[in-house]
Order: sequence, then C-alpha cells, then structure tokens
Amino acid sequence: MTNEPPLEVAPLIRSFLDLSDAGGHAIAAMINDAQDRKMARRGWPMGKPDIDQPLAGRVLAMVFEKSSTRTRVSFDVAMRQLGGSAILLDASTSQLGRGESIADTARVLSRMADAIMVRTDDHSKIEEVAHHAHVPVINGLTDLSHPCQIVADLLTVIEHRKALPGLELAWFGDGNNVLNSILEAAALMKFNVRVATPQGYEPNPQFVKMARDAGSTVTLTTDAAEAARDADVLVTDTWISMGQEHAEEKLAAMEPFRVDSALMAKAKRDAIFLHCLPAHVGDEVSAEVFEGPQSVVFDEAENRIHAQKSILLWCFGLIG
Ligand code: CP
Ligand code: NVA
Repeated sequence: MTNEPPLEVAPLIRSFLDLSDAGGHAIAAMINDAQDRKMARRGWPMGKPDIDQPLAGRVLAMVFEKSSTRTRVSFDVAMRQLGGSAILLDASTSQLGRGESIADTARVLSRMADAIMVRTDDHSKIEEVAHHAHVPVINGLTDLSHPCQIVADLLTVIEHRKALPGLELAWFGDGNNVLNSILEAAALMKFNVRVATPQGYEPNPQFVKMARDAGSTVTLTTDAAEAARDADVLVTDTWISMGQEHAEEKLAAMEPFRVDSALMAKAKRDAIFLHCLPAHVGDEVSAEVFEGPQSVVFDEAENRIHAQKSILLWCFGLIG
C-alpha cells in the first residue's frame, strides 16, 4: 500500500496560483474563450449548462478561510455551466477550523475532488496546498494576490473596446493584493500602470519589478491627479482589506486618493471605472462615480463567472 493517488488522476495538472502560471498567451486565450462562451449562452438561465459541458462529471472543492460573495458564487455557477459541480468548505464548519493541517486537507481533497480552489491569508499556504495536491489548485485570493479577479478585469476592459497593449491603467489608494495581480498582468499583457498611494502603502516591490522588467511603465506617485491624467482605466479597492486592522491613521492617509468626479474628469473622456467589490462608497469611491456612466463594476462582477470558466478550462488543459 502506498500514499500515492490512484492512477487514473488527470495527467495534466495545471495550478493557477498566479497569472504567470498561465502566461500571456494562455490569458489571451482564456479571455477569447470567455467572450465566446458568454456570447453563446446569452439570455439563458444562469444554471443551464453550456452545450458542450466540457467539465461534465468534474467536482471543484472550494475552501474559504476568508469571506466571499463573488468568488464563491461565480466558481459554483461556473462549474454548473461547464457541466460539473462544486462543494463549499469553510474554516468554521470543516476540520480546518479545528486545526487539521492544510497539507492533509489538500491530500484528502485531491482524492475527493478534481480541482481545489482556496481563499486564504498567507500566500505560502496556497503554495503548500499546491505542493501536496494531486489536482489543479486555484488561488481565490491571498494576502499577496488575486489573479482570478484580474482575468475578469481584463475581460471587462476588452469588452469596453480597449486594447491591452499600451493601455494606461491608474490605481488609487492601498497597494494591495489586487494591485499586485494587476502589475503581474501588466507584465504579461504589456500595459502601463500608474499607482497613486500614500507613502508607506505602495504595492509589493517584486510585482513592480516584474512589470518593469517586462517593459511596462510603472509610475509610483503620491499625486492622484497625476496618475489620473489621460488614463484609460481608473481602479480602486477597499482601503482596508480582509484581515487588516481598521486603522484610523490609514483611513486618514487614504482620503486624497478617493476616486471622485474631479479625478475622473482628468482621465480620457471614455475612461472606465473598475472596482473588484465589495465597495465602501464614500471612502475609496464617491457615490457619483460608483453609480455614474463610466462605472462598469457590475459588468466586472458578472465577468467573474465567465473568467472562472476559462481559468478552470485552462487548469484542465482544455484552453491554451
Ligand atoms: N471581488 C471579490 O473577490 O469578491 P468576493 O470577496 O465577494 O469574493
Ligand atoms: N483587497 C481586498 C479584495 C477583496 C475582494 C481584500 O483582500 O479584502
């Protein structure tokens, strides 16, 4: 008897811990496939499977050590649309909450599911899951990165008729996990990023270096107006991410970085506004911008489903 998995496991195991695991060509292929599938099922009930049901019989285990609305629902609906199904585990109702190791959980889930999606805090935890798992592992957000969100964001940008190479994307507020993945996307898809944050809240320097090394222009500034000038896309996120302390000092430092109408007016006339949600309207974005005509945040939220489908198909070797 061995501890090895049964022989019939899929021969191709592709994990999606960060965007670079797929690379620029595969991400472009994912976006194309997402657009095609989205178009092909226009007007259908959300739970009706796509005609080809490419993941029929497959099960996704979803492990959440942090809260989620969009990631949780979009992966579940994505699996249904691809002909498969999803099982939800959270720390409070699984043995993870009682101290079972993430390594043992990964090995067990590898025997019970065809892929594992994890949302957790320390990025090293998801790397550990991938190390022990015998099936594809997907990063549903860590403190370091949020790659699935960015596939949906790129799809949204392209749907709004903006080409990625040469795009000028401006970020305002906290240099967090979402921004890190945007910088990784910039490296892979050849666009430029202006980052406006208060001092001390800059993005992870490794992601800045990755984008710059790949030829993207990354501007780090404390001047929000400078970052917004003639930008194509304006993006922000919560000032306090999950797991961070609600510090008054941080909130005060963020005040000049709110995306409001005056800031939007400095961007290109056809610029769009993105936010991964959940939003704190009145903090990182004004109500006028959030509800205004340039805001495409609910297209972006819906696109989480279409993006997750492409990510899943890539993990199973059916795209790219
Ligand atoms: N944008 C995003 O990941 O949303 P949830 O936290 O609701 O999953
Ligand atoms: N930066 C946010 C993203 C939520 C989807 C967080 O980590 O809480």
